[in-house]
Amino acid sequence: MVKLDFSNILYEQIGDNGLSASEVESTAKKAISLFSEMPYKELEFLDIYRQDLTMIKELAKKARDYEYFILLGIGGSALGPKVIVESLSPMHNLKRKPKIFIYDNVDPVTFKNIIETVDLNRTLINVVSKSGATSETLASFLILWKLIRDRKLEVNEHFVFTTDPEKGNLRIIANEYEIPCLSIPKNVVGRYSVLSPVGLFLLEILGIKSEEMLEGARDISERALKTSLQENSMAVTASSLYLMDKLKGRKVVVFLPYSDRLKTLSEWFCQLWAESLGKEGNGTTPYPSLGTTDQHSQLQLWMEGPEDKVILFVCVERHGYQEEIPEEFHDLEGLRFLGGHTLEELINTEQLATEMALTMNKKPNLKLILPKIDPYRIGQIFQYLQVVTAMAGLLYGVNPFNQPGVELGKRLTYGALGKRGFETEGEEIKTYLKKPRFII
Ligand code: PA5
Repeated sequence: MVKLDFSNILYEQIGDNGLSASEVESTAKKAISLFSEMPYKELEFLDIYRQDLTMIKELAKKARDYEYFILLGIGGSALGPKVIVESLSPMHNLKRKPKIFIYDNVDPVTFKNIIETVDLNRTLINVVSKSGATSETLASFLILWKLIRDRKLEVNEHFVFTTDPEKGNLRIIANEYEIPCLSIPKNVVGRYSVLSPVGLFLLEILGIKSEEMLEGARDISERALKTSLQENSMAVTASSLYLMDKLKGRKVVVFLPYSDRLKTLSEWFCQLWAESLGKEGNGTTPYPSLGTTDQHSQLQLWMEGPEDKVILFVCVERHGYQEEIPEEFHDLEGLRFLGGHTLEELINTEQLATEMALTMNKKPNLKLILPKIDPYRIGQIFQYLQVVTAMAGLLYGVNPFNQPGVELGKRLTYGALGKRGFETEGEEIKTYLKKPRFII
């Protein structure tokens, strides 16, 4: 199981910067009680491990025959799939087929590079959008749709949609053109959807059984409602981060995994945490990081900068590969001491040393411990962080499943691009652009 070490947010370790164990305990109990009242239907993500995998597996089997796989999606529809590839099939495109491209940002040059790399005759395109209404995803879909049709290729052999089970533009197109279509459960929202077909289709394409990942998720879901804190460390994590904000004014959460394979997990977590909690003046700022790299970039700031951060380490006990550092240059102590140790020992020792240095400097930090990186543990860590985030939302008293703050920007984009019904926003854009600018 994913384990939590919360010693270093406690008074005993970091003095007045720390919390008392009883504060953490009572708030964690409150989080569990709020969680078990299930106030939002979107908490259905807890049951995601029960889904029917038949269609995902059938389509993935076919998808493995393609040379290239392009996933179009953004936010919750792209970040989870990125974690799946990078954690479970690192450097995938150098070694295996189909070559995978996840196109989320609408950067035109990235698009050009992908199109120039793939052969569309041998490409499967997975359009992932819960709403079926996201401009970024729909724009790249439209371009690829036309390219496929211009080449007289069959659209239902080159597209798979992953979308809402009933509604939205993609569902309409899928029905009309008989495009294979995977369903994201109705009550599972974007950033909590990685364990739905959004992530599992790609997982199966990698040749990994969804059951393994869902088993990890199930083991966390079953603990999420337990009242014993020994079993429900998600509640302790949520309450620690919440109290660090409310009682100690620590408004930045540095997410710090020590493994390249978890680098995109930082990005995924940051979306989950920011979009779920940043409401009505609440929330804390997630900061994506990577160890050991950021020891040579950010650590100075964490050690001696403003007293506004909590560090959330994610460490991996066994990385799965032993490379011994050779014993050379016996006369140069700067190199000699490394000899005979392994790269795994070095990365894990650096994690420990950083954790200790921060603790000795009275900087609060928490540690999630993964025994290793495999589908089961990745399923656990996804579900663990989803539960922690939802619990934190309930403690803050906000709805962790909506994102009202992103609507205005979307509406203004619609207005600027001439979408019907958004004429007022179009006028607002024009007025804004006419205002004097101070550009030097
Ligand atoms: O968490 C969310 O709901 C959002 O971040 C969405 O994932 C993102 O906006 C993409 O939405 P959609 O999947 O509807 O295209």
